[in-house]
Amino acid sequence: MSKLITIERHFLEQQKYFPDAPGEVTDLLNDVAFAAKLVRREVVRAGLVDILGFAGSTNVQGEEVKKLDLFANEKIISAIGQHGRFAVMGSEENDGIIIPPQNETGSYALLFDPLDGSSNIDVNVSVGTIFSIYRLKASEPGNASLDDCLQHGSEQVAAGYVIYGSSVVMVYTTGHGVHGFTFDPTIGEFLLSHENIVTPKRGKYYSINEGSYQQFNEETKKYLDYIKEEDPATGRPYSTRYIGSLVADFHRNLLTGGVFVYPPTKTHKQGKLRLMYEANPLAFICEQAGGRATDGRNRILDIQPLSLHQRTPLYIGSEDDVIVAEEFEQGVR
Ligand code: AHG
Ligand code: MN
Ligand code: MN
Repeated sequence: MSKLITIERHFLEQQKYFPDAPGEVTDLLNDVAFAAKLVRREVVRAGLVDILGFAGSTNVQGEEVKKLDLFANEKIISAIGQHGRFAVMGSEENDGIIIPPQNETGSYALLFDPLDGSSNIDVNVSVGTIFSIYRLKASEPGNASLDDCLQHGSEQVAAGYVIYGSSVVMVYTTGHGVHGFTFDPTIGEFLLSHENIVTPKRGKYYSINEGSYQQFNEETKKYLDYIKEEDPATGRPYSTRYIGSLVADFHRNLLTGGVFVYPPTKTHKQGKLRLMYEANPLAFICEQAGGRATDGRNRILDIQPLSLHQRTPLYIGSEDDVIVAEEFEQGVR
């Protein structure tokens, strides 16, 4: 019988890595795990309560917002903001930064995608929440600003995601390995289920929206033709797996190996995915698990953010598979 380690216990053990922040990181992560439980409660019964469907508004992304997007967003802001540990937040669903009312003590910034995979909410396909935590650059919590949110991904203190699927799993890193916890509804706790996740160097899956083939540049089309050729020596053809929820595609590839690509397209020259609350947190996790994450040329964690909702192409997953996809994107193959 494996040890029953709750996520709160695990957070506590991570504290030894932050001697100069006694208890702070533990508190931050507990805040996020608590909010995740509140979102999970609604996601798993979304079909029973009136939070399915469209909310009748569009967000800063120009995308139609689902009721569950807004619910998750409001829950995370209120459940976490009330403790005052975050001086500033940035959410996919909010145009500008969020300064929580009790922000006088917070020394951290939280960037998050409250509900990832919105197109899948009403059809019971896995969706998720993605989060990223930075220490404030500002001298005083009361002076927190957009600048505290626009930091290189390499500055992250912690990052993680929750995937609301057949089971609810929370995965996080503080820069000391990647650890996964499965929610046990009978006790209301996330229990350690995936200790020290290490992603395979190469997989057999590639994840890309093939429906956008005509939108892709020639380099991406050449890559797609290559990955589907018959060549047992290089494990080709790969199998395609694309759920349409980044967290679900990422989580599968993290555990089994594989590569997820959201490349530049004719309509989205920088791709569709957002740097601050999708690419950066998942890149931190991916690298901690031995994988690789770039925009096709540059390491995601080194990109200098210029705006809160900045988009970036994303090549992420098993190191060898990402390198092959990059070589096509760079025209060297
Ligand atoms: P969100 O629901 O937070 O807007 O994210 C949706 C993203 C991501 O989850 C997924 O990988 C991607 O959109 C799918 O985009 P396409 O439908 O263009 O493939
Ligand atoms: Mn998303
Ligand atoms: Mn979202």
